[in-house]
Amino acid sequence: MNHFLDIHTTDPTELRSIIDSAKTIKNARLGRPKAAPDDDLPLKDRMVALIFEKPSTRTRVSFDVGVRQMGGQTMVLSGKDMQLGHGETIADTARVLSRYVDMIMIRTFDEAVLEEMAQYASVPVINGLTDRSHPCQIMADILTYEEHRGPIKGKKVVWAGDGNNVCASFLHAAGRFGFDLTFTGPVQLDPEMEFVGQARKEGAEIIIERDPFKAVEGADLIVADTWVSMHDAQSAKERRHNMLRPYQVNQKLMEAAKPDALFMHCLPAHREEEVTSEVMDGPNSVIWDEAENRLHAQKAIMKWCVGS
Ligand code: CP
Ligand code: NVA
Repeated sequence: MNHFLDIHTTDPTELRSIIDSAKTIKNARLGRPKAAPDDDLPLKDRMVALIFEKPSTRTRVSFDVGVRQMGGQTMVLSGKDMQLGHGETIADTARVLSRYVDMIMIRTFDEAVLEEMAQYASVPVINGLTDRSHPCQIMADILTYEEHRGPIKGKKVVWAGDGNNVCASFLHAAGRFGFDLTFTGPVQLDPEMEFVGQARKEGAEIIIERDPFKAVEGADLIVADTWVSMHDAQSAKERRHNMLRPYQVNQKLMEAAKPDALFMHCLPAHREEEVTSEVMDGPNSVIWDEAENRLHAQKAIMKWCVGS
């Protein structure tokens, strides 16, 4: 049994095998109705709890569909309706849930909740986003990049905007998959230096460049995300928007990258804020494939978690 908690804490060979397995899983489903089961059913007779302490569209639906395609059943739980939201400890919740279900996916705020869940659960635990990282998303993003452009190793990825949780998982992946990452954003919203340091130690070139146009020179992939994450105070919205406006991904910025540079966004997007509709709906955007690939990447992650 394996937990899938973060990219930088998972062995690079295992990560590569998950991406390769996701490609196989995706190909095996070509042309099949969405609700039709896979030929291979690694979750047959297994029950998976999907716990959400924050809103979600993609994570909720893609995990739910993925489990069912692999022969399992799901239980979607809202953190606030559980005793978890009323004082029961994470450790006790983890022990109890492990008696009922075979796997737990949790989207939460504090990373410590995820870690405690994994420590006390006797079934695999998957990180469905915390304030600090979003590893399932970046596994889907790597799958997407490689489908369109081949191996991501040695490529130049540019993160434009807030050095947030999704940016953190990109940094983790830079170290593990061997690509370079340039962060362009305001100094107040730099990514965590601990993650920058680890990626550099693992051999990735990590550059911080305040000028977005300089940053995207030679870029193979440009990535944006919301300027105000779910864990950010709404009261900070205006201040964040003012700081981040120069980092909007628009056509002019895309044109300063390589002509075939891809655009990605984990979604949900705020059109005309962090990215223009022209870019989102333009020829270099792969956002819908990226969203679809959450399904295939997470199926590969769950398969790996149960040791299949
Ligand atoms: N990208 C992503 O995780 O989307 P949701 O918040 O809709 O799950
Ligand atoms: N950074 C965003 C990602 C949403 C999928 C957030 O945490 O709200």
